[in-house]
Formats: sequence, C-alpha cells, structure tokens
Amino acid sequence: MRTIKLGNSDLQVPVIAVGCMRITRLNRSEAENFVQTALDLGANFFDHADIYGAGECERIFADAIQMQSSVREKIFIQSKCGIRPGIGYDFSKTHILEAVDGSLRRLKTDYLDVLLLHRPDALVEPEEVAEAFDILQSSGKVRNFGVSNQNPMQIQLLRKFVKQPVIANQLNLSIINASMISQGIYVNRLHDSALTRDVSILDFCRLNDITIQPWGPFQYGLSEGVFLDNAKFPQLNAKLDEIAAKYEVSNTTITMAWLLRHPAKMQPVTGTMNAERLKDCVKAADVHITREEWYEIYKAAGNVMP
Ligand SMILES: NC(=O)c1ccc[n+]([C@@H]2O[C@H](COP(=O)([O-])OP(=O)(O)OC[C@H]3O[C@@H](n4cnc5c(N)ncnc54)[C@H](OP(=O)(O)O)[C@@H]3O)[C@@H](O)[C@H]2O)c1
Repeated sequence: MRTIKLGNSDLQVPVIAVGCMRITRLNRSEAENFVQTALDLGANFFDHADIYGAGECERIFADAIQMQSSVREKIFIQSKCGIRPGIGYDFSKTHILEAVDGSLRRLKTDYLDVLLLHRPDALVEPEEVAEAFDILQSSGKVRNFGVSNQNPMQIQLLRKFVKQPVIANQLNLSIINASMISQGIYVNRLHDSALTRDVSILDFCRLNDITIQPWGPFQYGLSEGVFLDNAKFPQLNAKLDEIAAKYEVSNTTITMAWLLRHPAKMQPVTGTMNAERLKDCVKAADVHITREEWYEIYKAAGNVMP
C-alpha cells in the first residue's frame, strides 16, 4: 500500500491505519482471517487503546496475529491511554506508565511504535506527562508520541514541557463531520460553519508536521451509525455512487479517497472488521479524485459554501 511519513518521525507507514476498537465482535478464526487480510493488503499499521473492549481488543489482536518477534518487526502498533472509564481522564505520570505496561502485556510486545494521549485531561500537568514520556522513551517501551482529540493550544501546552515531537493527532473527521475543514472555508462569516470548534487544528497540524488520523470515517453524529447507503443522506449517497461508478470502485473506496485527497497527507483509521470492506478502504490509496469531485462530495453532504 502507498505509505506516508508519520509526522516528522522516521516511520514510513501505510496511508490507511487499521483500527481495532471493534475486534471483540470476531471469534478467534475470524480475527485471524481479518488480521491476515490486513497484512496481505500491506495494512500493517494497527490502532489500539487500552480501553478498547476493556483491554480485550489488544489481547484478541495479539492472539490473532500470533505475536512473536518475527511478526512484531513487520508491523506498527499504536495504542492510546488517558481515559479511565467511569472516572474521567488521567494524564498523570503514574497512570500513563501503568497503562502502557498493561497494553504491552496484552499485546505481547515490549514496545509501542506510537503512544497517543487519548482524550484531553482537564487536570493535565504537562510536567508529569514529560516525565512519563522520558521514562517510556529511555526504557524503549514507546518509540514515538502523539495525541488524540486535542486542539492546538493543548498541544502547545504539552510541547512546552515534552521534548519528544508530537507526530500524530487522531481526530473525528468524515465527510459528514468536516467542521475542521468548513471553518477554514467560512472564516469570519456569520454562519455556524465559521465556528472554530477546534482552534484551526487542521492548519496547525499541517504547520507543525503532525499527521491527522481521522477516526470514524464512515460515521455520522456521536454514534448514530454509518452514512453510507443511509436514506438520511440521499444526495451524498447519490454523489458517492456516481463517482464510484466512474472509478469502478465502491462507495466505501470513494469515501476514503475523499479524505486522502486532502493535501494534509492524513492517515485515516478504518474501523471495519469486514475483510471485503477493508479491501475497499485500501483501494482508496490508489484512487485520486479530482478537485471538482472533492468539492461536489463536500457539498452533497450538506456543507454549504459562502
Ligand atoms: N481517538 C479516538 O477518540 C477514537 C474514537 C473512536 C474510534 N477510534 C479509532 O478509529 C477506528 C475507526 O473508528 P470507527 O470504527 O468508528 O470507524 P468507521 O470505519 O467509520 O466505522 C466502522 C463501523 O462502521 C461499519 N461500516 C462501515 N461501512 C459500512 C457500510 N457501508 N455499511 C454498514 N456498516 C458499515 C463497520 O461495520 P463492519 O465491521 O461490518 O464493516 C464498523 O462497525 C477505531 O477502530 C479506533 O481504532 C478512535
């Protein structure tokens, strides 16, 4: 698969990441088949979090891929920490260190390629994050660091104390939830699209060599479901189907191709557990839609232009 450089690190990674949040749905042999399909496709960058399936997702993945050193060196593993279900968020040094140890144990590995701070902790003490990152880096447990769901000021606050570069920011982005794009189109207008919900995170990440990893590329709303083939989005689906027919691919492929067409060089994270759908996602790495098609899709999703 086509690859990109992750942030300013020396990691050259597949342009599409495989999210493992939903892997608990699969039984052992289904999980093995799914992971093998991903590897066959060159989709060897896997996204995890300590909380997915309360830790089960990391465990199931490690078993499915039959983790051992010969396997480990052929794949990239990213995991996240900082959410404590039922409690809140926790970027304390103790929690970060314990969470990483838990992930390593479940993943049956001794290092993560990337660790992301999952969701902003209102009580963050960046000095503590810095200490935790230093320990994780010097012990070899984590090779690269990033964040998720953070705005530019939150990243800047971390960067004041943390010496490792922030190489990725995982953010909710899809055709239907494109506010980070719309605010740049609508600058300064008296229209809701002009609201900077994330303090211009898109341009900030481009300026600072931070790779955006869009999560939920097929979802709409908070957790309403998938917008593809959904009667609630007739215009968007008609447009996606029309462009899909032109390129002789599926609407899944075009949805991914829309994200990849953005010049920010993003790395979308898929969440499918269906091998055929994963193949369609990966196909997008080779489909370059035109500027006109990109805007047609954007508008068909209900995004209006000033
Ligand atoms: N950083 C964060 O805060 C955060 C938050 C959420 C997720 N994530 C990461 O991002 C990854 C992707 O998120 P996501 O799972 O929400 O993304 P997604 O790829 O938008 O959604 C995947 C889900 O949509 C279904 N789906 C996709 N296309 C479909 C279609 N055409 N028809 C019917 N169902 C369809 C999939 O079902 P099938 O399995 O049947 O294909 C799967 O259940 C996660 O695995 C996780 O690693 C990160």
